[in-house]
Amino acid sequence: MTQYSIVKGVFDILPHSQGEEYGWRLSHLWSFVEEVVREVTRAYQFFEVRTPIFEREELFKRSVGEGSDIVTKEMYLLEDKGGRKLALRPEGTAPVMRAFIEKHLDQRAGVQKLFYIGPMFRYERPQSGRYRQHHQFGVESIGGPGPEHDAEVIDLLLELYRRLGLKDLRVQLNSVGDAETRNKYQVALKAFLKPNLENLSEESQARFQNNILRILDSKNKGDRALLEKAPLITDYLSESAKDHFEKVQRLLKGLGLPFNLDPHLVRGLDYYNHTVFEVTAGELGAQNAIGAGGRYDGLIAQLGGADLPAVGFATGLERIIQTMVGQGVALPEAPCPALFMIPLGEDAKERCLTIACRLRHSGIPVEIELTGRKLKSALQLGDQMRASFVAIIGENELAKGRIALKEMEARTEHELSFDDLQPFLIGQKS
Ligand code: HAM
Repeated sequence: MTQYSIVKGVFDILPHSQGEEYGWRLSHLWSFVEEVVREVTRAYQFFEVRTPIFEREELFKRSVGEGSDIVTKEMYLLEDKGGRKLALRPEGTAPVMRAFIEKHLDQRAGVQKLFYIGPMFRYERPQSGRYRQHHQFGVESIGGPGPEHDAEVIDLLLELYRRLGLKDLRVQLNSVGDAETRNKYQVALKAFLKPNLENLSEESQARFQNNILRILDSKNKGDRALLEKAPLITDYLSESAKDHFEKVQRLLKGLGLPFNLDPHLVRGLDYYNHTVFEVTAGELGAQNAIGAGGRYDGLIAQLGGADLPAVGFATGLERIIQTMVGQGVALPEAPCPALFMIPLGEDAKERCLTIACRLRHSGIPVEIELTGRKLKSALQLGDQMRASFVAIIGENELAKGRIALKEMEARTEHELSFDDLQPFLIGQKS
């Protein structure tokens, strides 16, 4: 029979690991991270938005940028039966802005603070930390022009990492200024690079034409050497851009958040202005940011909405969980049953099901061995599942209405009536 295998560059998240290197694909770790995300967003008062995983292709062209790698090389495109050109979302900011404008969220008073968690799709060369479907948690704070909002989202991101126990975090910070800044800077960068155009990598030569700022982000060694002497965007900041950037830095210092200035940080999406930042964690190395974001004041107007400023970030859940595993962070245990019941015979099975369901209704995790395996192998299974208590229920127990609970760790026994099971197990939890 045909065996169907998973598509390249994507992965399953399962309750059991198929090997050491897949330890980060365990579903209980993902649930744990998602719960912490929800706790942190609640503390900072960000509220969830869920948008579809596909949008019109045009949305990403207009926002992420026609010349960006994401749009030119990485989008999963499809045409539906109505001839609409769609794209699986490669990122979350543009869809959230589309929903924000379309559903008139701008008419609500105050700054709108939104977050999302979900899969994103990019046709990239798969490697560790880089997948064709990845998951992002992102926030977008819309309507606040002040640097306090930049500092607030950066603090939220680092607080999430802190609560998850991540170490060795480095924040790289830059400002790509406003339109005035970038116009002046592009002229200066062009003048600097033009005499050396032939020495640039092929990719950077192409970017020279259509997206010159992205050359600053080149990983090519030759490009990097050349760029060392290039003019810095931070020397071209307009007065107001400089003021914004200095305030962000002051606020971050006030919050006790260390950062490094990196004047070459420009980010791969076109919508940014002013503050841009990336966070790396020791394990993943400098090439793979664990989270990144920035301010994008012009985007909403560019997509047909009101002229509102905004700032946000997204962080990859794969990269977070890989870093947690790599850094040896104390990870939550996989869920295990409080009670594992082994019925002997058909009557016992029926009785166990009634008891188990009643216990489950009061929130106690219970498992029953219903396949009729031999007692020895059933006990081994209880051990494997790390059940706190195991109970064997046969004719004797049914007749007496009493049960012997084996406490697996302490190797002791407790004899109880069926009715006392629930208060006993609840008492064990607290
Ligand atoms: P981004 O830097 O393209 O920004 O992606 C954000 C994060 O998603 C990255 O730092 C990384 O952790 C994760 N990531 C991206 N691509 C992959 C991949 N192929 N495999 C695994 N993880 C990946 C954005 O998407 C912006 N929308 C962020 C933002 C929100 N800016 C303002 N608001």
